[in-house]
Amino acid sequence: MKDTLNRIKEEALSIIASPDTDDAALEALRIKYLGKKGELTAVLRGMGQLSPEERPIVGQMANEVRAEIESALTEKKTALAASALDAQLLSEKLDVTVPGKKEKVGHRHPLTLVQRDMEEIFIGMGFSIAEGPEVEYDYYNFQALNIPENHPARDTQDTFYITDKILLRSQTSPVQARVMEAQKPPIRIISPGRVYRSDAMDATHSPLFHQMEGLVVDKGITMGDLKGMLETFAKTEFGEDTRIRFRPHHFPFTEPSAEVDISCFMCGGKGCRLCKGEGWIEILGAGMVHPNVLRNCGIDPEEYSGFAFGMGVERIAMLKYHIDDIRHFYENDVRFIEQF
Ligand code: DAH
Repeated sequence: MKDTLNRIKEEALSIIASPDTDDAALEALRIKYLGKKGELTAVLRGMGQLSPEERPIVGQMANEVRAEIESALTEKKTALAASALDAQLLSEKLDVTVPGKKEKVGHRHPLTLVQRDMEEIFIGMGFSIAEGPEVEYDYYNFQALNIPENHPARDTQDTFYITDKILLRSQTSPVQARVMEAQKPPIRIISPGRVYRSDAMDATHSPLFHQMEGLVVDKGITMGDLKGMLETFAKTEFGEDTRIRFRPHHFPFTEPSAEVDISCFMCGGKGCRLCKGEGWIEILGAGMVHPNVLRNCGIDPEEYSGFAFGMGVERIAMLKYHIDDIRHFYENDVRFIEQF
């Protein structure tokens, strides 16, 4: 029996000591030797056959063997848990010195930037923003604005027709008519947005571009108000030294009408490449709202007067940033866009 106990002890301890032994093997070993039907338990059960002198000696030895195996088991379990934790920590380690991945953050398109800039200036003068549809009735785009069918002004604003009566708006001016129909004076709005014309694409033309319309209607509005307001806009947008100039022009929806120039902000008016030697740069069309337009929209021209203006957002952006080709705005070339 002593031999059996010694064998059990050696076998068990050598299995426990083996580096290949894992948790599952340890549990199998515990059952094999120490379990209810285990080998050591069998030895204890068989002690009845021993002589009374031998019994306590073998009993003590069996207890020592059990204690030794148990403590070796516990030690091995602890060691296995520790090395498992080490392995986990090693596999999950985070090297905070590795250079990070740079996220590319986008920004607003130059046209949006310029449009926001312009909106800001007019909002500062008490204007609010009105919007109108890009798919528009011929009525609002032309007729309400004093441009009847067959009027020659339609030629310069040839656009894309959806039906005879519905088109892609060729200007933001139809928003004037929509606002005046919906709202009684005082009116003070700007309306930025996309417009369309069936023009071929070149350095200064695009079938889609952006305009910003302005409209003020109230009692006693004069051309002086228009001039003062545009001067404030020009100075804020292009610099304190900017002067403005009105040239007589014709638009069907304003009377009198003017084209408005600013003094060249590059040369101060002496003449340079930007202003093509003129000293002046055209930036917008404007005028006093035609009485027919007021009447078409249900406003009495005897009681109210107003002014209107319209300008191209691309044109302002091209001047401001010295961009020589309108196509840059629409090509989405990051090398261009990221400069703003
Ligand atoms: N709608 C005109 C165009 O596209 C620009 C314009 C001129 C707008 C005079 C106005 C204005 O409101 O009064 O050419």
